[in-house]
Amino acid sequence: MSASGAEYLRKVVAAPVYRAAKHTPLEHMSTLSERIGNTVLIKREDLQTVHSFKIRGAFNRMAQMNEEEKARGVVAASAGNHAQGVALSGRELGIRTVIVMPVVTPSIKVDAVRGFGGEVLLYGSNFDEAKAKAVELSETEGMVWIAPFDDEAVIAGQGTIGLELFQDRPNLDRVFVPVGGGGIAAGIAVLLKQLRPEITVIGVEPAESACLSAALAAGHPVDLDHVSLFAEGVAVKTIGEETFRVCREYLDDVITVSSDEISAAIKDIFDDTRAIAEPAGAVSLAGLKRYVQDNDIQGETLANVLSGANMNFHSLRYVSERAELGEGGEGIFGVTIPEKKGAFLDFCRILGGRAVTEFSYRVGVRDSDEPARIFVGVQLKDGASERQAIAADLESQGYGVVDLSLDEVAKEHVRYMIGGQPPEDVRETTFSFEFPEHPGALQHFLEVLGTRWNVTAFHYRSFGMDYGRILAAFENVEGDPEFSAHLDQLGYHVKDVTDSPAYRFFMR
Ligand SMILES: Cc1ncc(COP(=O)(O)O)c(C=O)c1O
Repeated sequence: MSASGAEYLRKVVAAPVYRAAKHTPLEHMSTLSERIGNTVLIKREDLQTVHSFKIRGAFNRMAQMNEEEKARGVVAASAGNHAQGVALSGRELGIRTVIVMPVVTPSIKVDAVRGFGGEVLLYGSNFDEAKAKAVELSETEGMVWIAPFDDEAVIAGQGTIGLELFQDRPNLDRVFVPVGGGGIAAGIAVLLKQLRPEITVIGVEPAESACLSAALAAGHPVDLDHVSLFAEGVAVKTIGEETFRVCREYLDDVITVSSDEISAAIKDIFDDTRAIAEPAGAVSLAGLKRYVQDNDIQGETLANVLSGANMNFHSLRYVSERAELGEGGEGIFGVTIPEKKGAFLDFCRILGGRAVTEFSYRVGVRDSDEPARIFVGVQLKDGASERQAIAADLESQGYGVVDLSLDEVAKEHVRYMIGGQPPEDVRETTFSFEFPEHPGALQHFLEVLGTRWNVTAFHYRSFGMDYGRILAAFENVEGDPEFSAHLDQLGYHVKDVTDSPAYRFFMR
């Protein structure tokens, strides 16, 4: 039998999380509040010892183990915040903890878990293999499995965030919560609905890992084929059974946000608090901003949860690049201009003194009718409407224009590889690949695909993140079953992008 709302309320109130967690402050975001015409409050879960809320659920779950279970120790699989929550809870409660992590886990995460007293077992080449090992350990060694979200005690532990929100600001209008596997959303929603049902609670998930939205559409949890790893903490393929049941009953709405919007929210958090949220930690604020805009909300008191700050420092470069686009502060375009002296100057004049943020081009055939193609970034003050105005201006002056501001292939790759049109007789098919970054990943790619087929274009840029992306074109592979078999063997997430507008514009 699943717990009722009233039972969850009792479980949350009784959760002994304050032996390991803090009642975190709910701070006013003054700059953002002013800008969007609402009072925006942010719950600082980054200030927990483990720099995320995950200590609450893990500690509540483990504090309820009996002596016999404690003696057997616990096991969990996680390369993220759950791992640290379990390790610290084990230290506080005197329980042995073993965390299974994929072999390729960055050492900063391994060290963090060890620093909180957890034992790390590096196993498997991806999360699923590590998880299978952890389940095996729980079966063969009798260790207690600590689930990251789909567990009543974990949900109740996360629910203490809702209790604190209510204690600090009982008159909130809306609360925005991030959704990964649904533990934090379920906990906060069920608790607030017991205490004050008028508070609207809205779940937010990245569009590229929207497992709750998918489950709501299907009426039951479903597996997503692929999830983007940008907001790693919420990159979950399947919502939990119990978290789904609770989220469906108690959340008022569920919305999705893009990576660019998450990046912009990280910047907003930084601007107002000087804290640096990890991507998952800024998801709920990104949703808050989107919701306010879509529903024209003014003068309300809105809360969001800065759920974690275990940021991979090097991904800041990507975040800062994307934040402007996410805020609508930059537009990027592919433009054809005459291949002649002075053409760039003419073009800049038409932009009417706007700041150009990026400009790439490669010389085409001189003294021919073939125009040059340029990639241009422009600073905007007025978002999408200004982008349309710029495109219209340029078109009216006889330039060919494609607005690439929402085009992933343009933003991720093509901007760095402008100008490589192949000779006419090349028949190429172009793919983007996403894979867990580790030493040897690129070599593996080339070993599987790079020797047998002719590579006609290739772009790879390391962002210093946990995953990498490659754009590569191959000659004469269309309909080749052997090539398809090798793609499968590679084991990377792969997508045919031959027909994406950016690729067509610049590369064909
Ligand atoms: C920073 C951060 N935010 C949000 C979440 C999502 O939590 P849940 O899986 O309970 O939905 C996680 C999960 O690990 C996280 O680490």
